[in-house]
Amino acid sequence: MTEDDLVAAARAVRENAHAPYSRFKVGAAVRAASGTVYVGCNVENVAYPEGTCAEAGAIAAMVAAGEKRLTEVAVIADSPAPVPPCGGCRQKLAEFGAGEVPVTLATTDGARLSTTIGALLPGSFDASHMERV
Ligand code: THU
Repeated sequence: MTEDDLVAAARAVRENAHAPYSRFKVGAAVRAASGTVYVGCNVENVAYPEGTCAEAGAIAAMVAAGEKRLTEVAVIADSPAPVPPCGGCRQKLAEFGAGEVPVTLATTDGARLSTTIGALLPGSFDASHMERV
């Protein structure tokens, strides 16, 4: 199986996930405008709502490094079918990536689903909605 670098990065960081409650480890990787890849994994908490998703971790790493534009996304989990990002993560991705940004959803056994940020969050709320014409 050949695998692109972004999926490989997501696969590697998934191993570090802290998911003792769901037992569902997720890895995410985003490529920023500079070309640098940032990774994140889900980090759960005994107070369940305090857990964070893999995508949120990758985005936080990108922003902490001083970058604000992502050009590609990959998410991976050990699931029967590629796992789509939750609603909150779709909004977080849309904050930093244009609608046409490619998103690869992957499973650990090699399944792939290719989509885009725009397809994941059609009709999204953005800054233009706060402007009066
Ligand atoms: N999770 C992610 O990290 N990303 C997704 O795209 C789907 C869900 C995490 C949240 C929680 O730690 C676990 O998966 C089960 O929902």
